[in-house]
Amino acid sequence: MLAIIGGTGLTQLANLEITHRKVARTPWGEPSGALTFGRICGQEVIFLARHGYGHTIPPHEVNYRANLWALKDHGVDRVVSVATVGGILPELIPGTLVIPDQVIDYTHSRGATYFVQSEKPVTHVDFTYPYCEAMRAALLQAADNAGIRLRAGGVYGAVQGPRLETAAEINRMERDGADMVGMTGMPEAYLARELGLCYATVGAVVNYAAGRGLSADGIQMEEIQAVVGEVMHQVRHLLEQLVTD
Ligand code: HPA
Repeated sequence: MLAIIGGTGLTQLANLEITHRKVARTPWGEPSGALTFGRICGQEVIFLARHGYGHTIPPHEVNYRANLWALKDHGVDRVVSVATVGGILPELIPGTLVIPDQVIDYTHSRGATYFVQSEKPVTHVDFTYPYCEAMRAALLQAADNAGIRLRAGGVYGAVQGPRLETAAEINRMERDGADMVGMTGMPEAYLARELGLCYATVGAVVNYAAGRGLSADGIQMEEIQAVVGEVMHQVRHLLEQLVTD
């Protein structure tokens, strides 16, 4: 079963025929909202809005552990996560879709592992390649089939938020090798790995990162809003293709 975790601009899927919703409970607390069960182009999927259906949960307060646990508990084995990002790499201009292949984690103080207070011996999980290659490949193939242009690969720099970055922080992230910056990529990707879920991210570039391009004089929220609407249209199209492939 495939799950889609929607981020900013994707709190619901217009192309999802909803069959039912379920409030899930987990040992890690409550997920961001009820799991939405339905079909896209006849294929069963579960949808979850990462920030809640009213977009009220900020990135650092999302219960990532509960979200992924609840999905796994309901038979999910594959996850597509949709997340807006700021573009650091010059070619990642607003409106671009990107399937990252690496992560740098700058987040802190988040529930970032299921290995807590457990009786079991500590396990160090391999995370050399943080995303599931099978899911990345499926997304790239779907984009190809649907004629959607996207960038295959890039380094996702996950920041704590909820504030945006300073220009100097973005310069540092660029020197580190980050191509895009977002607030929700971690620990989500890692928790999926701990649970053995095949997980990949669709990054939707909605602004130039701080100090770059049109953000040289500051990031304008109105401009982001306009791009979010357009780019999520493409994301829906990509997801439809993914499930029908
Ligand atoms: N910074 C961090 N997170 C983001 C950005 C950004 O510029 N754009 C969308 N999510």
